[in-house]
Amino acid sequence: MSKTYLVTGGAGFIGSNFIHYLLEKHEDILIVNVDKLTYAGNLENLASVMDDKRHVFVQADICDKEAIEKIFLSYPIDYVVNFAAESHVDRSIKDPDVFARTNVMGTLNLLNLAKAAWQTGDDTYRPGVKFLQVSTDEVYGDLGPEGFFTETTPLDPHSPYSASKAAADLFVQAYGDTYRLPLNITRCSNNYGPYQFPEKLIPLMINNCLNGKELPVYGDGMQVRDWLYVADHCKAIDMVLQKGTSGEVYNVGGHNERPNVFIVKSIIEYVRTTIDPTVSEALIRHVVDRKGHDRRYGIDPQKIRDKLGWEPEIMFEDGIKLTIGWYLENRKWMEHVTSGSYQKYYEQMYAGR
Ligand code: NAD
Ligand code: TYD
Repeated sequence: MSKTYLVTGGAGFIGSNFIHYLLEKHEDILIVNVDKLTYAGNLENLASVMDDKRHVFVQADICDKEAIEKIFLSYPIDYVVNFAAESHVDRSIKDPDVFARTNVMGTLNLLNLAKAAWQTGDDTYRPGVKFLQVSTDEVYGDLGPEGFFTETTPLDPHSPYSASKAAADLFVQAYGDTYRLPLNITRCSNNYGPYQFPEKLIPLMINNCLNGKELPVYGDGMQVRDWLYVADHCKAIDMVLQKGTSGEVYNVGGHNERPNVFIVKSIIEYVRTTIDPTVSEALIRHVVDRKGHDRRYGIDPQKIRDKLGWEPEIMFEDGIKLTIGWYLENRKWMEHVTSGSYQKYYEQMYAGR
């Protein structure tokens, strides 16, 4: 049956991958893609789908009540998938306010408008509708050396970014508990793949390697992140929309834990052996650590595996090659996103660090 999706943040990294995924997977679909086009949003990520009749792009802020209300009045929205967010921890340390605005107040605005559009009576909603909040494992905070985050791990965010995502999650849960709004929350581990903005570890290191620039590793580089190829995350989100039990949280991760310095060395090795033999580990520079840096994240994905049958398909060794290959083939994309304000950002974040 045909569904209409309101996807927010669909010009960003995961959102644009999700739009490509949906259009490939579902013939009979309409996607309304709402994005403010901040520094992280980029219409080049959507170039191949801009003429697709099943995709409508609207430049708007998720905090803007009138603009979002107009979308609910104009389209028969069945699903809201909320990717829109300020997403970078380092930026949240420098300027937390915009994280509260977009991530918390923006989510609340979407919840209010979805509830108003879908409500048919007290605690009843149009059949088949759902609000899906795209969240992160970072809301669980810092994991010790053992164990994994499960859906019942208490929220314990440390960075302004993760605090804003946890606050949004709590509002989403509250709308389920209080108003019975049909919803799910997904909490995924670190993503990597095409279209990721080069402020994040993997594309930043790929870009610097390809340009023979220093590779800034925070602290000792032994912090552990659990990496998932973005297409596997997109598949999980679509499965949760179709099959997830309303009100439930689903953790998404592929048991792919790696210390940061291992990731950096894998990129160096691949670039050295296939592209530029002069690239070496001598490019690594250990710089002052991030404030409040969480040491380890690790997801237990048992629930989504058992309940929904989700399995990751792309193993890290393949995913990293696909990713480096994509950045090599899309050097123009990288040139565009690293010109202008990116240079200033890089200077502020890394110079003299
Ligand atoms: P991103 O920064 O690449 O993209 C965010 C998008 O949101 C951009 O297109 C931006 O223009 C848009 N946006 C920002 N503020 C907006 C506003 N006020 N109104 C409308 N649009 C706005 O982020 P991403 O890495 O694609 O992450 C997407 C979502 O997934 C986020 O909610 C993030 O918390 C979550 N997530 C990310 C990861 C990861 O590893 N990147 C992992 C788990 C969860
Ligand atoms: P990042 O990609 O910013 O994602 P997150 O902070 O949401 O996990 O960073 C991933 C890890 O890499 C994190 O432990 C910080 C580290 N890191 C560096 O060591 N150097 C860098 O230049 C960046 C951007 C990140």
